[in-house]
Amino acid sequence: MVLEAIRYASDHLQILNQLKLPHASEYDDVASSRDAWHAIKEMRTRGAPAIAIVAALALAVELTTPSTSHELSEVAEEVQAFIFEKLDYLVTSRPTAVNLADAARKLKRVVEKAGAVSGATGESVTRAYVEAAEQMLVDDVSDNQAIGKHGAEWILKHAESGEDVQVSVLTHCNTRSLATAGYGTALGVIRSLHATSSLKHAFCTETRPYNQGSRLTAFELVHDKIPATLITDSMAAALLRLKGPTERIAAIVVGADRVAANGDTANKIGTYTLAIAAKYHKVKFLVAAPRTTIDLGTKSGEDIVIEERPGREVTLVKGPRFDGASLDLEQVETVSIAATGIDVWNPAFDVTPAELIDGIVTEVGVVEKSDDGVFHLETLFDGSSDS
Ligand code: MRU
Repeated sequence: MVLEAIRYASDHLQILNQLKLPHASEYDDVASSRDAWHAIKEMRTRGAPAIAIVAALALAVELTTPSTSHELSEVAEEVQAFIFEKLDYLVTSRPTAVNLADAARKLKRVVEKAGAVSGATGESVTRAYVEAAEQMLVDDVSDNQAIGKHGAEWILKHAESGEDVQVSVLTHCNTRSLATAGYGTALGVIRSLHATSSLKHAFCTETRPYNQGSRLTAFELVHDKIPATLITDSMAAALLRLKGPTERIAAIVVGADRVAANGDTANKIGTYTLAIAAKYHKVKFLVAAPRTTIDLGTKSGEDIVIEERPGREVTLVKGPRFDGASLDLEQVETVSIAATGIDVWNPAFDVTPAELIDGIVTEVGVVEKSDDGVFHLETLFDGSSDS
């Protein structure tokens, strides 16, 4: 079975409903920007690159669906205004991951350019939009494969032992195919280590409260037959103390939702705690993300808006009924695991300061801090119009 978070064929988009994983694999149709907004907000689809692509493709489907396209004007400016309005709306679904805002900005540029061509029509502007949205799906997979390769090489270069080195790594949240268009970022690095027989063992955190680690990453590691162990978030520092052949962690590798110009990185809540533990234990800390996650317009982590989610994600858990011997997958229950009435704080992300990060790997290679102790992330965009 191929794990696909996003299924797309010209006028048809489906997402794997990640609220149902790992016990059921169900695809939901996404036929409009409204459907996409709700799927992203409710976290039926998630992960910084994936939500950007779902949003972009959902609008492509909306634009090419007969019921909508018949209503669309023939006038290029009017179609452009329609697309701009829908993109602005989609960006409001989740605030922290920059990939969505970055995709919207780039798609607006494409549409503006198409609208400025002499003789432009509503149809030609739509076509330009759809082609650009479809290209985002293709680019994300190839970018992730490059991230995986560069990240794996960097970890091996920094590993302690000599020849035939195999390393164990720890990851947080979910960053593989379910969070991207395919292959994955941090989990792509782990897959790349595994593919070259350089992985001893992968550890993944549970990633409370939404459990992306235990529900999604563990599911993908089992699916890929990668040797792996699940720990709760609170066990990470204890793991980093261990020096056994399997447990000695060479690096922690995580994804990112937004990397500020100075390297401060917003990622799933709990990442910051891991980075502090890594520093204390002298374990390398690597952030893996496509360049679309790097936001040179945000100077530092101070300027990143952190999404806060409902308290019930902390106090309630959902899963199939367990009768003491086996799971009944037909009987999904929601149970309370907290005292009724307790106040809850539920930030979805935290910011890891750049000083705790050893490397940031993108599709064009790994950036480390220069002698001045600063990440020069602007160099990643040298010669590119993408910054
Ligand atoms: O709230 P989520 O599940 O969307 O958060 C996901 C993460 O924090 C990932 O680490 C990040 O988006 C990178 S996914 C390649």
